[in-house]
Formats: sequence, structure tokens, C-alpha cells
Amino acid sequence: IPLAPHVFVIFGATGDLARRKLFPGLFHLWQLNLLPEEFRIIGSSRAAPGTQEEFRGMLHHAVELFRGEIDHEAWRKFTARISFVIASAEDGSGLAKAVRAAEKEMGPATERVIYMAIPPSATEPMVRMLGKFDLHERAKLVLEKPFGTDLGSAKRLNATLHDVFDESQIYRIDHFLGKEAVQNILALRFANGLFEPVWNLQHVCYVQIDVPEEIDIQGRADFMESTGTFRDMISTHLFQLLGFVALEPPIRLDAESLHDEKAKVFHAIRPLDPDRVVFGQYEGYRDEEGVDAFSDVETFVAMEVYVDNWRWFGIPFYLRTGKAMAESRRTITLGFWEPPLKMFPGEVGGRCNELVFELTDDPKIFCDVRAKIPGPELQVGRGRMRVDLVEEFPGSEPLEAYERLLLDVMRGDPTLFTSTEEVELLWQLCDPLLKNPQKPRIYPRRSWGPREALQLPGEHGWRIPDG
Ligand code: BG6
Repeated sequence: IPLAPHVFVIFGATGDLARRKLFPGLFHLWQLNLLPEEFRIIGSSRAAPGTQEEFRGMLHHAVELFRGEIDHEAWRKFTARISFVIASAEDGSGLAKAVRAAEKEMGPATERVIYMAIPPSATEPMVRMLGKFDLHERAKLVLEKPFGTDLGSAKRLNATLHDVFDESQIYRIDHFLGKEAVQNILALRFANGLFEPVWNLQHVCYVQIDVPEEIDIQGRADFMESTGTFRDMISTHLFQLLGFVALEPPIRLDAESLHDEKAKVFHAIRPLDPDRVVFGQYEGYRDEEGVDAFSDVETFVAMEVYVDNWRWFGIPFYLRTGKAMAESRRTITLGFWEPPLKMFPGEVGGRCNELVFELTDDPKIFCDVRAKIPGPELQVGRGRMRVDLVEEFPGSEPLEAYERLLLDVMRGDPTLFTSTEEVELLWQLCDPLLKNPQKPRIYPRRSWGPREALQLPGEHGWRIPDG
């Protein structure tokens, strides 16, 4: 279905997210012919980054840096539709004028996408400004997490948003949900008859959602100091992943059914036990530029979570993520109970069958199984069943998470975005823990986090599958 003409407004147009993901993503979508035929992009921030040409030059540099060399002719054509306009919470008149001019050129069917790539504290005043200058009309508003810092602030933010926008206009982005491999959890579970019957406490004995990152804060001191890893990663990305793994089969794969099922999972999560949560901080974090010398902000979290419903009661979900760790991985592992009898000589003991989702940009799903070693003896060893999605579907064009989600916003499809209800339920769950934050334990850089976290999953340990 051809998309209606669009005008994109990107607030925070010179910031990290815009340069790293949004402009490169829009350019790639355009190269793939996935943008509407008619579109304009208006970058905006409080201060101009120079002339229009200098702004486009900055974007050119960013796109090359984050996507590699680009075709100059294509870039010239693409940027002919990009401009920059100053706007602030006090004054949106220039922006309103530019948006209306673009709409006049493209006709009355033009839709607006307004992307808030700005710090959370700036969101509410900007939303009020949008209302004041009627920029909210026919607009889809895209917001970045964290959506508030606790239940109270999330409710206030939602109230401000709803003063100006209808809920159906709001797209709360959690870019993990745009990753191919995350959507594959749904495909594997519900497009096959094989997995769903064993997707429960009778067959699964633990789930691990593990997102260690090698990078440190990379200059994002302000962000980390005000947000911390729990709010940055756990109450958003990792709980959303847990929602997809744990949810009941939805009636349909539409936004409402999926949001309802995820919300039921979040409702069923047992209050978090502070004794089963470990906060960590990497050695040297306090010496990073812009970080308080006595900062107790966590750069690492590991925790145990239980979902108290018929499907999962008593089965631990282990969540872990942190900066400056030994390896960068994004894996979801489901461990299966051992068979009741060990009948084969040479059987590799002590480990369950494991089903692993590698959520990298080269997504893979594999399952470790025991199988007969060829030869005269009836001996078993460990084998692997494996789906390599890029190899399996040659010629398919995987989209980067932000690209996929930008496309969904244009199509008006909120399925892979987070609802108000989900956000509020997750804050309700996390608030008690965050109101009484524990002191982080120091861990060495390039390690797997504090010792206490290593012991959290007990006998199974943290599963680091060899990809
Ligand atoms: C972002 C967090 O949302 O996700 C970062 O703010 C984190 O701290 C990043 O590094 C990880 O995303 P990805 O797609 O690189 O795994």
C-alpha cells in the first residue's frame, strides 16, 4: 500500500540518536524505496548547527560514520528534502510555518511524524508547545524511553501527553522490539506446532535474558547519571523481552491483543525481591568525565524474576545487563528439564537442552540436543539444531531496528510499541526497588560483573552459548 506523503520533524536533530540511527535509517529506507514518494524531513533543536548546508554536511558525516560510504548522487537527492529549523519549548512559530509550507507543497493528505529524540526532561514542555502551535494535528508522536522515572512521573507524563494527543497518536519506542530476532520469538512460538506445547513450567526449568555490553558509557555521563542501567535497560528492553517470551498466545497478532497479553505477564510478575537483585558499577566509572566522584549509579544489574501464573509459576527468569563487560551478547536462553533416566553411556551430564535466541543483527536460533555419535558404540554427544536466518532466507533485506519501527510509525502500526498500561505496570513493579536503591558492587572492567551476580542463577550459572 503506498504511504501517504509525510513530513518528519526530528527534535534533537544534532544529537546522538538522530545522527547514529534516525538519519542513517531514513536514508536507508529511502534507498530501499520504502519511504513515501513525497516526504520532507525537518531537523530541529534549540540552536542552529550553522547554515542549512552545514547541517546537511554534519548529517553526511554521520551517515558515513555509522553506515559506511554512501553514493553522493543519492545523498544529494535525499537531502534536497531535508532542512533545519530552530524550535524551543517557548517558541515553535518558525517550525509551525515550515511544517505548513511542506504540507502545502505535498497536499492535504500529508501526515506528520514528530520524533522526540531529546532528553526526557525536555519532553513535557515540548509537547505543550506542539499543542500551542497546533502541530499535534494529524501527527504521530514518537517518544524515546525512559517514559518517566517512576510511576508518579510516568502518570504525569501520560497526563500531559493526553492533554495534547490522543493515545492512538503516541508511539513509545523500545528499539529492541524492532529487532528481527525479537519478532522471531513470536514466529517460532506461534507459527509452529512444535514449541508451544513445551513452552511452560512442565518442560522449561529456567529462562535467561542476557545483554552484557562491552562498551562503557562512551561519554553519555549525563544520561547514565540521571538514568542508571535499571531504567535504561531493565524496566524497558529486558522486561519487554520477558513479556514476549512469557506471554500467552494472543488471539491475533495485532497491537491490542499483544499489548493485552504482555500486560497480563507484567501483572503476574511477583514483587521483586531485593535480595535477588544485584547492582554493580564498573571500576573507574566514577573517574569518567561528567560523573560524580561519589556516584552510586548502577552500570550493571542482574536479577531473578518470577511470573506467578499457571504457565510459569516457580520457574526463574534471570535478567542481566551491564556496561564494560567481558563480551557483548544479546541472548535469550530457555533451559529444558533433563530426561528422567540417563540410559546412554558417555552421556554429557549436568546440562539441560537449551533453546537459544541470538538477538544480534545476524539473528540465529539454535537448540542444543544430545545425539548419537556416529560409530560402532551407542554413545551420545552434544549436537546442535540451528536456524541461521540470514543464510536461510538469502536475498531478504533485514532492517535495522529503528528502520523497521520508523516504517511502522508511517504505516500507523503500533504493534511493536509500548502501551501506557505496560509502562505504568512496569513502574509499579520496579518502584519499590528503585525507591530504595542498593549500593552497587564494584566490578572490574571486561568482567562478567560482581561476584554476587555470578552466583545468582545457582547451579546452572549464566549461560553464554558459543554462538
Ligand atoms: C539503548 C541504551 O536503548 O540500547 C544503551 O540506552 C544500550 O545504553 C543500547 O547500549 C543497546 O542497544 P543495541 O541495539 O546496540 O543492542
